Amino acid sequence: MLRTKTCGELRASDNGQTVTVCGWVDKYRDHAGIVFIDLRDRYGKLQIKFDLAENSEIQQLARSLRYEDVIQVTGMVEPRPAGLENPKLATGAIEVLAQDMTLLNKCKTPPFEIDSSNLANEELRLKYRFLDLRRPELQELMILRHKLCKSTRDYFDELGFLEIETPIMGRSTPEGARDYLVPSRVHAGMFYALPQSPQLYKQILMVAGYDRYFQIARCFRDEDLRADRQPEFTQIDVEMAFVQREDILQTIDGLIRRMVKDLRGEELGEIVRLTHAEVMERFGSDKPDLRFGMELHDLGDIATACGFSVFNSTIQNGGRVRGLKADGAAEKYSRKNIDELTEFVKNYGAKGLAFFRVKSATELDSPIAKFFSAEDQAKIIARFDAKQGDLLFCVADTNKVSSAALGALRNRLAKELNLYDPKTMKVAWVLDFPMYAWNEEENRWEAEHHPFCQPVDEDIPLFETDPGKIRAQSYDLVCNGYEAASGSVRIHDPAVQQKVFNFIGITPDEAESRFGFLLDALRYGAPPHAGIALGLDRWVMMFGGSDNIRDVIAFPKTQKAADMMTGAPSDVDARQLRDLHIKIDAPAT
Ligand code: AMO
Ligand code: AMP
Repeated sequence: MLRTKTCGELRASDNGQTVTVCGWVDKYRDHAGIVFIDLRDRYGKLQIKFDLAENSEIQQLARSLRYEDVIQVTGMVEPRPAGLENPKLATGAIEVLAQDMTLLNKCKTPPFEIDSSNLANEELRLKYRFLDLRRPELQELMILRHKLCKSTRDYFDELGFLEIETPIMGRSTPEGARDYLVPSRVHAGMFYALPQSPQLYKQILMVAGYDRYFQIARCFRDEDLRADRQPEFTQIDVEMAFVQREDILQTIDGLIRRMVKDLRGEELGEIVRLTHAEVMERFGSDKPDLRFGMELHDLGDIATACGFSVFNSTIQNGGRVRGLKADGAAEKYSRKNIDELTEFVKNYGAKGLAFFRVKSATELDSPIAKFFSAEDQAKIIARFDAKQGDLLFCVADTNKVSSAALGALRNRLAKELNLYDPKTMKVAWVLDFPMYAWNEEENRWEAEHHPFCQPVDEDIPLFETDPGKIRAQSYDLVCNGYEAASGSVRIHDPAVQQKVFNFIGITPDEAESRFGFLLDALRYGAPPHAGIALGLDRWVMMFGGSDNIRDVIAFPKTQKAADMMTGAPSDVDARQLRDLHIKIDAPAT
């Protein structure tokens, strides 16, 4: 070992010890006669003192050090002079008086400072990821990620689950995104698909008798990226046989409680259970942030009879008028701010955003207040349970658009008004999702979750009458506004599976060619089974208080699915293409 101690572990109790430490030069200060260096490794920072009066070779060498040089220092732990301790640093009570130093390696001038309070452009940081990853904040997130994985493995192991790896090169699995494909050299013109999830393999493991499976599994999806999405991400994937929905919910409740306990040393509060219909009505979102209230209210009855044509015509056309209240915000939002919010809700399809400032217990102030009788104004105020100084927002549109717009507005206002502590976690189940959604563009029903999900038994007759009302035996776990896990009870009867395929327009031939192996397995004694997958990256984000998924992945990709550091994706040798029987026909750039 090149060191006897790490930079984070020395305390006042170590005074007088001679130690050897290694690390990177984090800070450098030259105070006439004394050079101070903050030495950094992943365990912390340590102040090293070089007394130039000694005028030895190493004291002079200290003067030539630059940021991020790598050094090894041997010296004596000493208390810092009274009044010069740094309570912000774990090692702040002491410093090491250098007696010997070796320059292990020089660092080129870094393209940016390794400093979280002064972040360089993200693309540059991703290009030099090895430098960015030196930031203590990112290192903490990597440690958190490790702990989350360990907590998960311990929990499932104790419950008798087996971690079983499933292939990366396989057949296309249907999670709704585009596949990443790998061409086969041996089978000309054929491709493997990278798994969008281990879904089909884990169901087959149930048929094979491995009734408690989990895996920390890498998944690949070629889809539009967002702040909480990566093309390559990780799931905590779970499947159980001989269980019902309740068993999965309780098993995962236990996992989340265990994680919170292991990572934060806290007991998690109640994990509430809500239905899909309820969350859409109350929060306008199927992944509501429950750290704050600000629930939606329906104004349909008042809107029908009011004089504002936008409102009453919306109701006549089968739409909805709903709104929410920002407590005490009447004076916090200027007309210009409200114009910005109006533009914001337009991104979600809304045509406008009506607003009212509450003037008194019975009176509203708004450009459109004149369209509402005194009685209607009082009714609106009562409906929102509003008081003087509150600000009300309303959207008149289809059910879908009013939900999307108000749901997004709710999140934005809560953030702007600091309505929650970013460190708290509010976890909830959303149950009874609809099984199918009508795809307007393609004029067909499609599965909301995936086509292996079991419908609620009593809803099966609705296939013939009102398919939009069929509820799925599926469940999502939401946390702080993220979809943090998703799963379902599976179909284990091949006849029901075939019926579902038919319904969403997958013909028997197509089903046989795409999922024949699964249908076949279901015919060989498939046990009833159910499962779920948690978005591991998202859980690390929530535990770490980060809103950028790239911060919790060591080597993430950009919004354009590129790896800035290695330059992937890249072109390849002509010979490799020839071997793979591939000709490139890319559009000219
Ligand atoms: P689903 O597609 O809902 O379900 O994915 C499960 C969870 O994975 C996370 N997730 C993502 N995280 C980061 N980047 C992405 N691109 C991304 N896509 C999804 C989310 C999501 O809740 N096989 C089913 C699970 C099952 O039925 O058991 C599945 O993959 O947190
Ligand atoms: P207008 O009649 O277009 O001048 O709009 C008057 C006010 O009603 C403006 O504040 C608009 O933003 C708002 N508004 C217009 N359409 C809608 C709608 N569909 N839902 C809610 N408010 C709307």
